[in-house]
Amino acid sequence: MDQPLMDRVREAALRLQGELADERTPFVYDEWYVAAFDHEVTRTPLARRILGVPVMLLRRTDGGVMALEDRCPHRSMPLSLGTVDGDHIVCGYHGARFGCDGGCSSVPSQTVVPPGARVRSFAAEQLGPLVWIWMGATPPDREPPHLPWISDTEGWRASRERLYLRSSYVRLHENLLDLTHLSFLHARTFGTPDYASAPYESKIDAATGHFSLLRRVVPTRLPPVWAKPTGLEGVDAARITSSTFHSPALHEVHARFHACAIPEDEQPSRAIRTAHIVTPETATSTHYFIHHGRNFALEDGEITEFMHGQLLAAFQEDIDGLEAIERNLANYPPGTAHEISFRADGPSLAMRRWLKKRAVG
Ligand code: FES
Ligand SMILES: [Fe+2]
Repeated sequence: MDQPLMDRVREAALRLQGELADERTPFVYDEWYVAAFDHEVTRTPLARRILGVPVMLLRRTDGGVMALEDRCPHRSMPLSLGTVDGDHIVCGYHGARFGCDGGCSSVPSQTVVPPGARVRSFAAEQLGPLVWIWMGATPPDREPPHLPWISDTEGWRASRERLYLRSSYVRLHENLLDLTHLSFLHARTFGTPDYASAPYESKIDAATGHFSLLRRVVPTRLPPVWAKPTGLEGVDAARITSSTFHSPALHEVHARFHACAIPEDEQPSRAIRTAHIVTPETATSTHYFIHHGRNFALEDGEITEFMHGQLLAAFQEDIDGLEAIERNLANYPPGTAHEISFRADGPSLAMRRWLKKRAVG
């Protein structure tokens, strides 16, 4: 390809990218995001940056969650370094006292509280093991997304982990909607060579923001993480996976496995579900919460540990890959590295276009 043609391709690619969310796109503020797992929010303040904003989380005396901007309006001391007094936080610098609504009720060095002495408070709700926060400027107009299987653990065995990613949250969502990478990025963990070319169906609904993929790898040999625990080691098996983008904060992956030699409905159900919970910290860093469940080998604690370890090794491959991309892009002036997309990128391109529209209107 000659240079003028290369230039035209590059310009066209960059024009298309202008419609897609990336690390330069503002966050979608009017959404629920997971701020923490339930066990992280205690009577000791927790400092966590969410959508670029420093936030302090504290367990209230009634068991609810207090979420305030983590910056005293006096001289910007992080309130999370202060002292907890009932449902108040007392700033550790000059003692100003703030309640759950962010209002300042006293300043020790004077009798009158200055007007405007208040910090931003955020709506926070706990659903099962997840503490959700609303970072929008206006009050929430809907409930946090709810995946019943996370709270209702009957018949499921679960494990969780909080990971951290030095890369844009957009890239993580794209990674989760692109299962062709399993054969390569995850060749040493849960990928198999036949995965990338297996048939798939995608659903794209830009009106509701629903993007999903269903991939059938049949027949295949299951990787060790699933083969041993399902009892499908060394036999032809079916691996059927769906990946669904629910919101900028939440992605859900389901997979089910069965032996090819027997009809699926004549076998015990062997399914896994993973909530990939995505909370932007900054434009190029992301809190990455994982909640993983399975409905087989329920009584075997060793299998929980084995699968958890194997999964974490695989998710670390995603983290390493996405961080390498972020570092590589830092070598170029922002917005100048053009991307050539593949056919399998359809759902992720639609998702990025939708995110961009949500972010900038
Ligand atoms: S910085 Fe908080 S009271 Fe002074
Ligand atoms: Fe991956």
